[in-house]
Parts: sequence; structure tokens; C-alpha cells
Amino acid sequence: MKVVLGCDHGGLNIKNAIIEYLKEKNFEYTDFGCYTEESVDYPQYAYKVATSVANSDDVLGILCCGTGIGISMAANKVKGIRAAVCTNEFMAEMTRRHNNANIIALGGRIIDEDTAVKLADIFLNTDFEGDRHIRRVDMISAIEEGTFEL
Ligand code: RB5
Repeated sequence: MKVVLGCDHGGLNIKNAIIEYLKEKNFEYTDFGCYTEESVDYPQYAYKVATSVANSDDVLGILCCGTGIGISMAANKVKGIRAAVCTNEFMAEMTRRHNNANIIALGGRIIDEDTAVKLADIFLNTDFEGDRHIRRVDMISAIEEGTFEL
């Protein structure tokens, strides 16, 4: 599995901490930026990561901004993306197990660096449970496709 990352200035510190973790654990990764604390627009980085995840098999994404909210909103506009803002370990685990999230979104102004690394670790090492959750994730896709029927 490969990891792709992106952030804005509000998430740079936690993204850098996660990259140190990825290096330590020998993950293959691509960092789409940003790389400095200069103010940038998070949708650019959301788009780079989200299209990379949507166009490849076996790729998970990590996006970081100030809150995780804006960057997840932008990523979720790309077809096939299920980006989840997570602020604690339970959310990071459950969004893989039940939602088959393919991007975790984290907030550098919400959680500290150690927490960000822990949540990334859980996200990258937890599998989708399948079973009844397949039906529900398929419904999310149907809403996206405009084919959902009640
Ligand atoms: C940037 O100041 C901030 O708005 C951004 O990082 C993020 O929190 C948006 O959701």
C-alpha cells in the first residue's frame, strides 16, 4: 500500500510529523506539499491527493489543514473519495472498519503531533470489515452517481 499526503499551512506541522513516522516504518509515500508555512489554499492539495487516491488501487491519503474540515470537504468532491475528519483513535479506526475511508483528514490546530501520528498509524493499519458495511458504502457511491433510490 502506498500513502499520499497533502496539507496547507495550518496542517504542515502534523503532516511533517506523520512523514517522519512513514519513513521510520518504511512506507512508500508521495508528499504533494505544501512545504512551507506560507499561506496557501487547501483545495489545491486536497485535489492532488484525492485524484491520486481515486485513480489508483491500494493508495490511502492523508490530508492536513487547520481543522481537517475544509480539506476534507474539497477532497470529498472528487468521485470515489471518502475522506473522514478524525480527532480521536476511535474515529480513525471506525472510519476504516465501517466506512472504508480512503483519506483521513486531520487538523493541525485541533490535535498535537503525537496524536496525528497515532491516528495516521491506526488509519493505515486497519482494514475495512466488509459484510453489511459494503451495502452502506455502496449507497454512498450511488448518491454520488445520482442513482440512489429510497
Ligand atoms: C487556513 O487558515 C484554514 O482555514 C484551513 O487550514 C482550514 O482549517 C480550513 O478548513
